[in-house]
Formats: sequence, structure tokens, C-alpha cells
Amino acid sequence: MINTPVDTKDTEFPISRQPTHSELVARGVTLPIAAGLSSRAAAPPSIGSASPEVVSVSLTVNGTLHALMLDTRTTILDLLREHLDLTGTKKGCDQGQCGACTVLIDGRRVNSCLTFAVMYDGAQITTIEGLATKGTLHPLQQAFIDHDAFQCGYCTPGQICSAVGLISEGRAKTADDIRELMSGNLCRCGAYGNILAAIAQAMRRA
Ligand code: FES
Ligand code: FES
Repeated sequence: MINTPVDTKDTEFPISRQPTHSELVARGVTLPIAAGLSSRAAAPPSIGSASPEVVSVSLTVNGTLHALMLDTRTTILDLLREHLDLTGTKKGCDQGQCGACTVLIDGRRVNSCLTFAVMYDGAQITTIEGLATKGTLHPLQQAFIDHDAFQCGYCTPGQICSAVGLISEGRAKTADDIRELMSGNLCRCGAYGNILAAIAQAMRRA
């Protein structure tokens, strides 16, 4: 979508903006925060005010063991991206709707944005960075290149990890099966036809 700047001088309905704090003070307006909020409004929120709980978690990520002290609310996605600098796994919606964050946990595909690390103490995690072996791309990575199965590439790590899980599940027999079983991985660029061809190629060669 292209955002066109609006010239407010020439519009029939000029766009107004909220006055700044300084402008309100200059006009003599007393702001609630300056005047003092009521005791109810000023009270600290009761929800979320507890101290975070930190626990010890050990995880093997792409073959490397990591022993970490983590806030119990840390998701696998944030663990990967913020603690281990493995940014191949993408954060799309952060709500379990797009599949961009898909990784393999103990061989099963999982939306890492919805998964707390503390739930998987001792687990084996594989991300897009861990699929190639000794400089050779995983067959699905190669298939995505062969079939030009991406445009912006943002969904691609999740698509590939999900497809690895799909193939190891062994449930997909037809193109429609692949479509159905990959339906949790969205591609905003609409590269679905090429993604399907890439996965079908890797399935045939598995
Ligand atoms: S970022 Fe996890 S499903 Fe979208
Ligand atoms: S290639 Fe852009 S979102 Fe899928």
C-alpha cells in the first residue's frame, strides 16, 4: 500500500492534531497528571506487578546445548531471537496465526511464539539455521530455490521448517494434503503455487 502525504493546507477538512503538553500548559489548561490524579487512578496496577520468576532452562538448539536463566514468560521465539541471536526464525503475528515462527521441537513443528521455553526444558530444537549439514542445503531449502518459492522471504524459514515436519509426519499424499497441512503457514506475497511445488519435489525425493 502506498501512503500518499496529505497537504493539510489544501484539504476541505484540514487534519487537526492533538495539542502538545507544552501548548496546553501555555494555554493554562491543567492536565490531570499535573493536577494529581485521583488516588484510584494513581494506584499502581495490581495485574503484572509481581516480580518475574526466573528459572533455569537447558535446551539443545541446532546441536548446541544452552543452559539459560529465563523469565518463565520467555517464548521459544524470543529465546531464539533475543537470547541466542538466531534471527532466522521470524516473528510475524506473535499470536499463533501466521506460522512465520515455526521451528521443530523434538522433531515436531511448533509455533514458537506461543510456546514458553520453560515448557520444553531438555528439548531438542531445530531452526532454519540448523537444517543445512556441512555446507549442503537441506533438500527443502534447495527445493525452495529450485522453484523460486519465495518473494520477500519473510515467511520462508517457517514454511521450510513446517514442511520438514510435514514430510516426517508422512500424512501428506496429495497436493491437496500439502495445502491443507501447510495451511497454518501464511505467505503474504502469495507464493503458494511455488511453495507447493517445492514441497512436492522434496517429498518425492525423501
Ligand atoms: S509469529 Fe508465531 S504464528 Fe505468527
Ligand atoms: S515470500 Fe513474502 S510472505 Fe511469503
